[in-house]
Amino acid sequence: MESHYKKLFKVVSRPTRAGSRLIVLSAVLVVGITLLVVSASFFYTDSNVITDTSKTIIGQSNGLTDKISNLWQGSGSHANIDHEILTYPQIEDALTFKQTSDKRRSEIVKDNMEFYHDFFDKEISEPKKGTLARAPAQGADYDRANATLLVLVRNEELNQLLHTIRQIEEHWNSKFHYPYTFVNDQEFSAKFKQSVNAATSGKCNFVVIPKEIWDPPANIDMDKLFHEIDIMEEQQINYAGKLSYRNMCRFNSGYFYQLDFLKQFKWYWRFEPGTNYFCDIDYDLFKFMEENDKTYGFVISLYDAPQTVETLWPVTLDYVKKNPQFVHPNGAFKWLTENLQNPWHARATEGYSTCHFWSNFEIANMDFYRGEAYSGWIKSLEENGGFYYERWGDAPVHSVGIGLFEDKDKVHWFRDIGYEHSPYKNCPKSDKCSGCSAGDFGPGSLDDQNCMSNWIKLEMSNEQLAWY
Ligand SMILES: *[C@@H]1O[C@H](CO)[C@@H](O)[C@H](O)[C@H]1NC(C)=O
Repeated sequence: MESHYKKLFKVVSRPTRAGSRLIVLSAVLVVGITLLVVSASFFYTDSNVITDTSKTIIGQSNGLTDKISNLWQGSGSHANIDHEILTYPQIEDALTFKQTSDKRRSEIVKDNMEFYHDFFDKEISEPKKGTLARAPAQGADYDRANATLLVLVRNEELNQLLHTIRQIEEHWNSKFHYPYTFVNDQEFSAKFKQSVNAATSGKCNFVVIPKEIWDPPANIDMDKLFHEIDIMEEQQINYAGKLSYRNMCRFNSGYFYQLDFLKQFKWYWRFEPGTNYFCDIDYDLFKFMEENDKTYGFVISLYDAPQTVETLWPVTLDYVKKNPQFVHPNGAFKWLTENLQNPWHARATEGYSTCHFWSNFEIANMDFYRGEAYSGWIKSLEENGGFYYERWGDAPVHSVGIGLFEDKDKVHWFRDIGYEHSPYKNCPKSDKCSGCSAGDFGPGSLDDQNCMSNWIKLEMSNEQLAWY
């Protein structure tokens, strides 16, 4: 806990680096806007131009090996841009957080937690939306969604994994029997396979990640990487010293959905060893996503350590400047740029709140990641190298991608899923839950890490609020 705190405050002592970046960014923005004003008219006059432009950018050579770079061709067709296209100046304006507050930061945190607790005081059970797909009778045929449970896990984590699988089975999968996909950068042991097969009611699949997509790509300067790792270790940033953690974050950001084995699936439910599930779930979560036209489902929203995403936002804006057509006009712009609760976060990152969906639980449509907007963006992130030099997490990467390139109404907060990944929780007040007290988020000292009130207040429509 202590190091968690330290990492948050460390950034305050390093304003000069962020400051000098701001000057550089401003210059880049001025040039960018000028270029965009010139090019914006093309985007409006001929949709074929948009198509060709994006194609060129995605097809560019980037110094990565061809094998890797071919993964990001983007399988979506250009015709899938089905929304109004914003100009870059319009996007910049939308990404300028405009609310201000005279309150002290501690009061803002307190207000947001009060809002959070009031919200969780409302009893909920299941979404009041459409007909929920119920479990088949014992032994009856059931037409499952195109989906798998998914976990990246090591042999050594078997016990924590079984702990979580038992809960997922008890509360949900014993009724639906969805398959599992276990993914590892090493071979799974016989004992591992036997144990998970015995604990699950769905088919188990075991996938080993090919080395060439797990290890750092050729464009990473290993000397520079180890230098950056030293600096971050001095700052006591979580997992700073771990190369494998970076491999994992990068894999979870831009590779898992490209594994040959996973290509057969559209939906995944990602879970993590050691997490807890507190509530019975009596409807098919994948079908819920599908039937309600959702792309991404989450349970917890947090702030991130700004030092781990220092340049993610400017690099992203650079991509957006070249590809404004990908930005969804109904994106989660405010949540991404809020700067009241942890103002130094948005300063250190040049504009990103660091709010993200906590990705150790997610239920989402992999075709979104496989599409052109997200694929092209991941490719530009790869060229930058920040997955290694800065340790970008997959949670902020998924969240920024969804927040910019998807309609925020296609994001679903599973309020009814009681969940814990220590030290944080989502605890609904529901007769389906036990072992988790309603509204408990985590230790009070971490209240300022909660970004859930922002999501509710800034991005949820009344229609979505009425679902529970
Ligand atoms: C499942 O989804 C994947 C990805 O969209 C697709 O390629 C595959 O054909 C789908 N399978 C079925 C049975 O619909």
